[in-house]
Amino acid sequence: MSKGVVRFSASVSRDLLTAFDRFIKDLNYSRSRAVQEAMRMFIDEHAWKHREGELIFGTLNILYDHETRELEETLTDIQHAYRELIISALHIHVDERNCMLVISVKGESSRIKKLIDEVAGRKGIKQLKTVTFAI
Ligand code: NI
Repeated sequence: MSKGVVRFSASVSRDLLTAFDRFIKDLNYSRSRAVQEAMRMFIDEHAWKHREGELIFGTLNILYDHETRELEETLTDIQHAYRELIISALHIHVDERNCMLVISVKGESSRIKKLIDEVAGRKGIKQLKTVTFAI
């Protein structure tokens, strides 16, 4: 182990470790290399939310159930309330029941975090993934 490298242990489910090991074998990664990469990606994905005043550009990718009562109206209301951040929005009818809304945003980090918090956790929201770049 080189200087500055530490060992640590973590507990995960057997199923998760089996799936992880299968993927890293395909990629020819060691566990250490894959965990380091995953930790860096995790930090990149979340760090900006704790820094105020940073200019952020990216997309919010929202998969939702369009049959959930009033959800589409609520999502539209939220977009109107945060219109100064929103560059454009794309609506995709995924299948009979599911819609995907891709909202491209550019603006101040804490305001974008507020927008995400407004959407996340609402009934009918199945997944919310963000892709962000600090610029
Ligand atoms: Ni739709």
